[in-house]
Amino acid sequence: MEFYEAIEKRKTTREFSDKAVNVETVKRILEAGNKAPTWDHNRNWQYIVLSTDEEKEYAFDEAKKTADKFDADRYLNIPRPYPVTLGQKMYGYAMPKQFTMLKDAPYVVIPLFKSKELDGEYVSKLNPFATIWCVIENIFLAATAEGLSCSMRIPLNKEHDIVKKKLKVPPTYMIPVFIGIGYANPEEQILEQYKPDVDKQIHWGKWK
Ligand SMILES: Cc1cc2nc3c(=O)[nH]c(=O)nc-3n(C[C@H](O)[C@H](O)[C@H](O)COP(=O)(O)O)c2cc1C
Repeated sequence: MEFYEAIEKRKTTREFSDKAVNVETVKRILEAGNKAPTWDHNRNWQYIVLSTDEEKEYAFDEAKKTADKFDADRYLNIPRPYPVTLGQKMYGYAMPKQFTMLKDAPYVVIPLFKSKELDGEYVSKLNPFATIWCVIENIFLAATAEGLSCSMRIPLNKEHDIVKKKLKVPPTYMIPVFIGIGYANPEEQILEQYKPDVDKQIHWGKWK
């Protein structure tokens, strides 16, 4: 697939088809992750890969609780002084799927980056976190180039430590995201997105 076509086609998927995924394809996608730029030249991130229902149910019990207690109708119909935004529509659509979009993915990749805790005092102190997001984007684009799609869930607050403990992740690593990889359900609803105008985003020379 041509590079800009992969950029255009990549989108977050929250419904997967039953079609199996070849494990060699997953490895190729992770090799693409390994080609990402890195702040300290060590490329010392790791991947946990889940594939069975038991593994996914065990790991994502918190995500299931969050999804189960979310009432999308109530959320989208809360009286507001303004119309529901596209972001709120996306949230209302995505929240109930936070578990199934991982459970129904043939593979869930959990990248791990080396860091005991996040220190955001300076932008540069977040380099380990920034690097793993470069890895993650390479994974998304490589999956798209393979004809696959990804779901993504960021562990919410304490969910991070709960999953870390369950999966026996060493204390020196952190989890930025859970990535479901599979073939998208072609019938999945596509929600409208904001389309920024690059000419309005560029400030030549300085902010103006
Ligand atoms: C930092 C980050 C955190 C996100 N967290 C979640 C999440 O927890 N659950 C989810 O379903 N989607 C999550 N998303 C996906 C966004 O909802 C999605 O990227 C956005 O709606 C744009 O849609 P697109 O990816 O199809 O272009 C996240 C995306 C980013 C970049």
